[in-house]
Amino acid sequence: MKEVFGTLADGTKVHRWSLENGGTRLKVLSYGGAVQSLETPDRRGRYANVSLGFDNLEDYVAKSPYFGALIGRYGNRIDQGRFTLDGTTYQLSVNDGENTLHGGDRGFDKRVWDVEPFTKGSDTGLHLYWTSADGEMGFPGTLRVKVTYTLTRGGDWRVDYEATTDKATVVNLTNHTYWNLAGEGSGTVEDHELEIAASRYTPVNAGLIPTGELARVAGTPFDFRRAKTIGEDIREAHQQILYGQGFDHNFVLDKGITSRPEHFATVRDPRSGRTLRIATTEPGVQFYSGNFQDGTLVGTGGRAYRQGDALCLETQHFPDSPNQPSFPSTVLRPGETYRSTTVHSFSS
Ligand code: BGC
Repeated sequence: MKEVFGTLADGTKVHRWSLENGGTRLKVLSYGGAVQSLETPDRRGRYANVSLGFDNLEDYVAKSPYFGALIGRYGNRIDQGRFTLDGTTYQLSVNDGENTLHGGDRGFDKRVWDVEPFTKGSDTGLHLYWTSADGEMGFPGTLRVKVTYTLTRGGDWRVDYEATTDKATVVNLTNHTYWNLAGEGSGTVEDHELEIAASRYTPVNAGLIPTGELARVAGTPFDFRRAKTIGEDIREAHQQILYGQGFDHNFVLDKGITSRPEHFATVRDPRSGRTLRIATTEPGVQFYSGNFQDGTLVGTGGRAYRQGDALCLETQHFPDSPNQPSFPSTVLRPGETYRSTTVHSFSS
């Protein structure tokens, strides 16, 4: 189903698509390719929207902290918004202190994507297209991007990313859904249990740029190798926790880069029983514990969002890779195809 969600100041209409399959209900906006709502049942079969969002387009345009959005060209931070590739230095749009965050001022989250519905066997979904012009936000090369959202027969939400370029460039695409498995607007996720199969993470400086070190999680608040609640160690006076005002760090997944999506994280809300399992081809994930939510945004259900009312698990290559020669490369060259897949599975 397709309906008009709103109209931008320049007259462009933004549509909302509604899909359902295998017990999962998904609403997607052409603005930013944003997941506006994702509903799953609890253990008694009661549905709730487990992703943060707004009920109107104006709020998405004016103040969304990337709710549900597609992120590009470069998910996460690039130091000083600058990098050198093949001897040329590129200056990007800077939008996070002195750094570039999530692709700059007008990243993919603020673009109106072309959306095409499809059904394939028992799957249903949307293809989303955006062509990013050479030089957009300072990045080199025309980047042609195709993202596919699939709802499978089993109710999984699968995201496939593809991109090609006509000049050497850097790419790191992700989706920025904020999860609250008890339902958006229902309060903190500190009691959610989280497990991440990562023995290392990338510590950051005060500007949240990686130092380059791959530090062991053992003996730190970053050890989620066995499930623990998000709240358990979030108030530890660990320098990294203080920098992030909670968790806002890239975890180095033990599985590494894989050609097929492999499981790396489980989130569980003990009260509702809702469980989210995530698999990816990517080598890293940004675990962000909603630290910058400050009670000023009113969400889809009419309730204010406060600090820690959601978590994000953004699958990715590591932050600032274009300036970190020891990190897996994010360079894409003409003739190559960037590919990345992340699968979210729900149960209760
Ligand atoms: C970043 C946070 C940022 C948030 C919302 C996350 O991906 O890691 O630092 O505040 O996005 O902007």
